[in-house]
Amino acid sequence: MPMVDIKQSPQTPPAGAAADWTIPQDWSGYTPAEHAMWDTLFERQSRLLPGRVSATFLNGLDVLRMSKSGIPDFEELSERLTRLTGWKVLAVPGLVPDEDFFRHLANRTFIAGRFIRTPEQIDYLQEPDIFHDVFGHVPLLANPVFADYMQAYGEGGLRSLKFGAMHRLARLYWYTVEFGLIREAGELKLYGAGIVSSFSESKFALDDPSPNRIALDVKRVMRTRYKIDDYQQTYFVIDSYEDLLKQTLETDFAPLYAELESSQDLETDVLLPTDTVLNRGTQAYAASRKGAAA
Ligand code: PHE
Ligand code: FE
Repeated sequence: MPMVDIKQSPQTPPAGAAADWTIPQDWSGYTPAEHAMWDTLFERQSRLLPGRVSATFLNGLDVLRMSKSGIPDFEELSERLTRLTGWKVLAVPGLVPDEDFFRHLANRTFIAGRFIRTPEQIDYLQEPDIFHDVFGHVPLLANPVFADYMQAYGEGGLRSLKFGAMHRLARLYWYTVEFGLIREAGELKLYGAGIVSSFSESKFALDDPSPNRIALDVKRVMRTRYKIDDYQQTYFVIDSYEDLLKQTLETDFAPLYAELESSQDLETDVLLPTDTVLNRGTQAYAASRKGAAA
């Protein structure tokens, strides 16, 4: 799930959904074509990702036995995941209200769409489908440190609502859980679900000279806007999952929210003198897109 209202989500669960918005996955209801779509996507990413993605992600795929053919059955997947980190995966019909999303994370439940994209949507769709949600997000939940980060994030999200600061935490989610990069053994690797589930961004985020790549700083991220419909202009890089957890868990965000009220938002391509810049982007890709839109 992305932490963003792509469409305004309804405030009460639709018919057939539980009070917490979950629905049965109805695994036996998937068609052969839907399972085949999963296999196609899975194979394409598995060919591309080794060497580019965080070792922790590959390990998660392995210990969760995700290379098994066909759309994963959430019951079976949850059984393995619960044994490893206490997390489980449940299906939802679509986007859910922020508070429910946060509450699920705080309870170590990852909610995922049950539908899969059609062949026409293979390279782009706006709403997160089961491939994004499960292939993208679930492997890292098999890692105890990342699993703790996601739970802490859910608790922090619920807390942010009291400060009217949901958008700040949404940015943190965006630039870590969805579009994060990590330095492993001195090399940049992918870990964000939005990247690893995307064939083209898996290449762009790592190789293209266009985007900035800068070290993660929580306060800085919470000031930074993001684009939901194109490649990122800036990626934030963590040193380790331990460091990400420490930076977020040991910082009380309440004073940061207060302080940020008097500071301006940063555009998606801005670099600050205080940034630790790993790659200064050319922004050539973004410029070419602007030209196309004008
Ligand atoms: N420490 C944050 C707070 O005080 C909570 C949080 C933890 C947020 C982990 C995100 C990730 O609100
Ligand atoms: Fe997501």
